[in-house]
Amino acid sequence: MIELRDVTKQYGETVILNGADYTFPQRGLVCLMGPSGAGKTTLLNLLAGFDTDYSGGIAVGGALLRELDGDALCRYRRDNIGFVFQNYHLLAGHTALENVCLARSPGVDPMETEKQAISILERLGIGEKSSQKAETLSGGQKQRVAIARALMGNPQIILADEPTGALDRANSTEIMELLRGLAAQRLVVVITHDRQICSFADEVISIQDGNIVSDQSAPNPPPEHSLRTDGAASPSLPRTGFIAARRGLSLPPGHGAHCASVRVVIRTAGVKLSRFRRLSPWFYCRGLAFAFLETDRHI
Ligand SMILES: Nc1ncnc2c1ncn2[C@@H]1O[C@H](COP(=O)(O)OP(=O)(O)OP(=O)(O)O)[C@@H](O)[C@H]1O
Ligand SMILES: [Mg+2]
Repeated sequence: MIELRDVTKQYGETVILNGADYTFPQRGLVCLMGPSGAGKTTLLNLLAGFDTDYSGGIAVGGALLRELDGDALCRYRRDNIGFVFQNYHLLAGHTALENVCLARSPGVDPMETEKQAISILERLGIGEKSSQKAETLSGGQKQRVAIARALMGNPQIILADEPTGALDRANSTEIMELLRGLAAQRLVVVITHDRQICSFADEVISIQDGNIVSDQSAPNPPPEHSLRTDGAASPSLPRTGFIAARRGLSLPPGHGAHCASVRVVIRTAGVKLSRFRRLSPWFYCRGLAFAFLETDRHI
């Protein structure tokens, strides 16, 4: 968990944070929105320990970053953080697999690293691109490779600075679904200018007047199409329509065999959605999971 307490950050006369307090959740997808120059990248650099020129405290897992020396900060980043950037930052002339293996932790056997890298690339759906040179991949594929690299070492925090900034809408949606899936087990912070990207977030925050504030105007799914399950009732699910459930909640018993399909949707955040013909971009939003279903069968 990352906690900011009374953090002030300025560049000369330019004040970015002014006594800001904010606690990031242990896991989930947090979108950091805001106009150019608001200080989004500055905040990410503070969280990563790249920038130590501030007052106040930033604690990660209870340890204050400012108390770590250079080596300890490097270890903190290596062991805890994966970075994803708008322009991928892949090494041209090297294959997808080699790029992922570059994130090898010291002391880890190269064969073991390669095994891990292949398994992550496969999990992200680009296993067959492993031996293709980075510069020959499409934008969406490059970003998947960059995410695979960020996942090496299984970090508990992913910091992504405009990861969809160079992608079209379809690829942006795929990348955000992927990041949302990863956020089930870790904290993923995504900087974006794009409000549609925020529909994937559990929480949307912005920097306003030197403070980090939760954005209450983040979009919610249209209620007229929603059927919310609270675990007590046993709603009959439509063949087509939105379903919504609290994150991690199983549907109540009594739905028979088909219930399992619905649980997959709710719990795995986009991993096995191909079985449904349509999926709304609304999926996780404010602690609720939403899916638009059009299935072959009545569930
Ligand atoms: N090293 C620096 N020295 C002086 N000013 C800086 C420095 N880095 C950033 N700034 C200033 O701080 C402000 C916030 O910059 P930052 O890069 O964090 O914005 P941002 O919200 O990420 O913007 P964008 O959406 O354009 O990437 C800007 O006014 C910028 O000019
Ligand atoms: Mg920036």
